[in-house]
Amino acid sequence: MVEERTISGKILLVTGGAGFIGSNFIHYWLNKYSDSRIVNLDKLTYAGNLDNLKEVEDNPRYEFVRGDICDRELVDEVFQRIDGVVHLAAETHVDRSILDAGEFVKTDVLGSFVLFEACRQAEIEFFIHVSTDEVYGSREEGFFQEDDPLNPTSPYSASKAGGDRLAYAYTKTYGLPIIICRPSNNYGSYQYPEKFIPLFTTNALEDKPLPLYGKGLNVRDWLFVEDNCRAIDTLIRRGHFGDVYNIGANDEVTNIVVAERILEVLGKPKSLIKYVPDRQGHDLRYALDCRKIHDLGWKPAKRFENGLGETVRWYEEYPDWWKKIKEKSKEFKSFYETYYQKRK
Ligand code: NAD
Ligand code: DAU
Repeated sequence: MVEERTISGKILLVTGGAGFIGSNFIHYWLNKYSDSRIVNLDKLTYAGNLDNLKEVEDNPRYEFVRGDICDRELVDEVFQRIDGVVHLAAETHVDRSILDAGEFVKTDVLGSFVLFEACRQAEIEFFIHVSTDEVYGSREEGFFQEDDPLNPTSPYSASKAGGDRLAYAYTKTYGLPIIICRPSNNYGSYQYPEKFIPLFTTNALEDKPLPLYGKGLNVRDWLFVEDNCRAIDTLIRRGHFGDVYNIGANDEVTNIVVAERILEVLGKPKSLIKYVPDRQGHDLRYALDCRKIHDLGWKPAKRFENGLGETVRWYEEYPDWWKKIKEKSKEFKSFYETYYQKRK
């Protein structure tokens, strides 16, 4: 067991803190550690949203820096004044990576490379590299373990695998204090409404069709975002440098069941579900063996059957948050119209 690292007084860099997991993590961290500070470095791409962080924008323990993780000069400057890193910044939507992979390779591979290089020059105590369960590819049965081969199938997951393996190479070659984690599908508040659960929830609230890919039989392991934040916290305090950790909830559900449950919570008819042509290269199932992080004392606290209802209610309660994106963001509209137009 690693001796517990101290958090007290530390300054943490969160990259991609204006996104879904990043903003949840910043709320979690500032609430939990009252004498620790956060610097949030985020480019504010279409997925970055400072509305997610309104509650903390005047908090003296929080600082926002708008910038690109590919900008070496800026990254070097920020690394001079921080103690640890949680690296979340990425292009993250599989469907967008199928349309155009360029930004994925840039941010998820090259951006990660810039951070690792900066880490070599600075005195960083820990670096949590957030990869994804998608790097393993798909399997029909059984569970992926951390030392299984990687077989990414989408431009997104291949880019993430590039960042993941670079992180590994930098910790093995230069002894950098990097820990790699591979979380499963997160759900919760502040998730950009192009992703499955917020898209289906908000479409149902608007009485619009829910575009279910293929036969709706793909399986995802749904992890409540706050449980993921606690897992990252556990790794910061107790993870082994140079190791990989799966993070999952062992809560496997087919997409059709998720869609029906969302409609049930909202009291909307099943006829809103519309089967559309499948995603290209659509992975059937992701499933993780998480005993390694369980041994560090982390377990998921929220079961999907409770967490999904709470999440759906959150979107119902905060329509201003998602309507601003769905109705006013050009990036949302142009992607939605072009991508889903083809699926009619
Ligand atoms: P998100 O798309 O909601 O947010 C990504 C954030 O990164 C945005 O705020 C965006 O502005 C920022 N960003 C993008 N490119 C940047 C750049 N070049 N420089 C600085 N900032 C940049 O993503 P998310 O769902 O919160 O995912 C966060 C991380 O967790 C990603 O690395 C993702 O691969 C990983 N992950 C996500 C899930 C999930 O289910 N959401 C599961 C496993 C792993
Ligand atoms: O597994 C972790 C990954 O989970 C993260 O690394 C990614 O960043 C994150 O986006 C997510 O990827 P998925 O492709 O699994 O998530 P998405 O929300 O896009 O889709 C979930 C499932 O729902 C998937 O099987 C595809 C299906 N789907 C999705 C959309 C957007 C539909 O059937 N219709 C849709 O319109």
